[in-house]
Amino acid sequence: MARREPIAIPKGLFDILPASFSLKEEAWRHVEHWQKLEDILHTTARQYAYQEVRLPIFEHTELFARSSGESSDIVSKEMYTFLDKGERSLTLRPEGTAGVVRAYIEKQAYAAQDFQKVYYIGPMFRYSRPQAGRYREFYQFGAEAFGFDSPQQDIELIDMLWTVYHRLGLKDLRLLINSIGDMGCRDRYREALQNYLRPHFNLLSADSQIRFEMNPLRILDSKDPQDQALLKGAPCISDSLESSTKDHFEEVLAGLDALGIPYEVCPSLVRGLDYYNRTVFEITPPAITSQNTLGAGGRYDDLVASLGGPKTPAIGFASGFERVLQAYLEQHPEKRAATTLQLLFIPLEKSALPPIMQMARTLRHQGYAVAIDFGLKKLKNSLRQADKLGVRFVALLGDEELQKSCLQIKDMQKGTSEVLPFETFLAEFQPRYGSSHV
Ligand code: HAM
Repeated sequence: MARREPIAIPKGLFDILPASFSLKEEAWRHVEHWQKLEDILHTTARQYAYQEVRLPIFEHTELFARSSGESSDIVSKEMYTFLDKGERSLTLRPEGTAGVVRAYIEKQAYAAQDFQKVYYIGPMFRYSRPQAGRYREFYQFGAEAFGFDSPQQDIELIDMLWTVYHRLGLKDLRLLINSIGDMGCRDRYREALQNYLRPHFNLLSADSQIRFEMNPLRILDSKDPQDQALLKGAPCISDSLESSTKDHFEEVLAGLDALGIPYEVCPSLVRGLDYYNRTVFEITPPAITSQNTLGAGGRYDDLVASLGGPKTPAIGFASGFERVLQAYLEQHPEKRAATTLQLLFIPLEKSALPPIMQMARTLRHQGYAVAIDFGLKKLKNSLRQADKLGVRFVALLGDEELQKSCLQIKDMQKGTSEVLPFETFLAEFQPRYGSSHV
């Protein structure tokens, strides 16, 4: 049969694979790094008392239209929407908050307990032009806290995200924070901003002209240099805040100070989703480019009610795995080579397999990651393969070693080797080889 053309992955998507699967793949796509970040997430969330939720990948389109807002980029341009066989309009989730709120209301989680704190990890879908750090399918981890309007809740949530980044080893991050007030302040500010911009309307970029009526606050987000220049003299949202909102924001800032989390108040930060009010924030790596926000969130005290639930204060964040891992590997290039494997056994004879199977099992049950090359290839080929796998230690067992019940252990990094009796090898595995994985 003629060989068929292979089918390529769709545009804007990527595979997450073990490092050994595709050596050409960029390191941030290696699953070992994803697992490390997931471990940190699960541990940190548990310690902050957030429970995991696993929600559907698609929901009714209306849910996203009603929560993110018709004028948001997500709803107006980026949704993967389709009709199913029953002619229902469904949408691949572009973000996680709407689904969590839907479940919170539908399951009456507010009746079970007066506060609920949850987190999630999973793929999201947005149809946008693929570029570095922007994909059509991307993974977010996010957290949502329902029930408390206390500023301490804002601080706890920001601290949790900050802790995740810190535990991963990210350095010099910038926390940008702002308060965009309640709906009343927002309406007043909207009018003030429109009044200021109206005489310059013709000078605004095409995108900002569209936003002028629909969502003028989003003009503050514009990256267009002329828009930026016009905005220099614009009124500031902080001038429109009510005193209770100002007090809330001051308490959030004081709490961050008390925890030693540095921040920059950023008056132009408004965020692209309609559901936010009061505290909004973004965390970026030190070098600023337009796409590189690592994680972001804010309060959404009106969303639960606007989707049919009881009035419930809430706050949340979400962060993209891809950007976080890219920043991590940029800051720690030495961590790029990823292997979780601690030892590879290479039997040189068939008769070496039974003792190797025993020893491998003992080590695995003690918690070590151990592989066996069953190929019985030439030693040179086995060592070449071990090198590609990135494993630091290999244990060789041939006729000579078998007779003496010994193993030859090679340190692939240093190029040294030593011969150890089986019992010594097993008894001293921890101090000699135990910390060899990344
Ligand atoms: P968002 O700002 O739209 O917020 O996205 C949060 C994060 O997801 C971004 O900072 C970025 O790391 C990542 N992200 C977004 N779009 C893409 C993309 N196309 N490719 C790669 N990464 C991307 C939300 O999604 C809100 N639901 C956050 C939230 C939760 N607010 C309250 N609760």
